[in-house]
Amino acid sequence: MAPKIAIVFYSMYGHIKQLAMAEAKGIKEAGGSVDMYQIPETLPAEVLQKMYAAPKDTSIATIEDPKVLEQYDGVLFGIPTRYGNFPAQWKAFLDKTGGQWQSGAFWGKYAGLFISTGTQGGGQESTAIAAMSTLVHHGFIYVPLGYKTTFALLADLSEVRGGSPWGAGTFSGGDGSRQPSAKELELAEKQGHAFYQAVAKVNFA
Ligand SMILES: Cc1cc2nc3c(=O)[nH]c(=O)nc-3n(C[C@H](O)[C@H](O)[C@H](O)COP(=O)(O)O)c2cc1C
Repeated sequence: MAPKIAIVFYSMYGHIKQLAMAEAKGIKEAGGSVDMYQIPETLPAEVLQKMYAAPKDTSIATIEDPKVLEQYDGVLFGIPTRYGNFPAQWKAFLDKTGGQWQSGAFWGKYAGLFISTGTQGGGQESTAIAAMSTLVHHGFIYVPLGYKTTFALLADLSEVRGGSPWGAGTFSGGDGSRQPSAKELELAEKQGHAFYQAVAKVNFA
């Protein structure tokens, strides 16, 4: 039986969504399949309009109830940084997981992270570190991206690039106009591939 993987993300301007698609491509290349979910919006339409938010992609399911995640062996979280941490939309969703925390429903499942920030130094690693507390409380086993298949990409300083051994990443630019680069998407694809292989190896070899 193949492991069941979900990608769960929030994306206001589409950068994390693009990384999520690349992660999914990597999972499929590794022989897996994946279900995609987006975190529910918490802001009213008029605020989103003032923030120039992109329209929601209605082709991707919105996950209202965290119970949905109980069926998965591994979950990749896509996080657009707010002050080096989860955005409120993510936090509102996580605050609904009290039942899973109490019952241990997520204990022993595998989790990975991919992150978007506006700028270099804007908090990709600090967002990952901040997310550790949530993972630990639920008993998720964190699967870092590391360097095994990504050394050349992560060590390449020839151009501006998001992502780190903590997980794939992109920079949106201060005004959101920068789009994920080919190298950032490649890193995300490699993460999806490696994450699937890691979960398959420990659970289903
Ligand atoms: C309220 C707010 C706080 C933010 N805080 C940070 C930050 O601490 N560091 C940073 O680099 N970018 C910050 N950003 C920029 C977002 O991280 C950026 O818009 C996001 O990564 C883009 O991803 P998305 O297109 O998937 O929404 C912030 C944006 C908002 C709206």
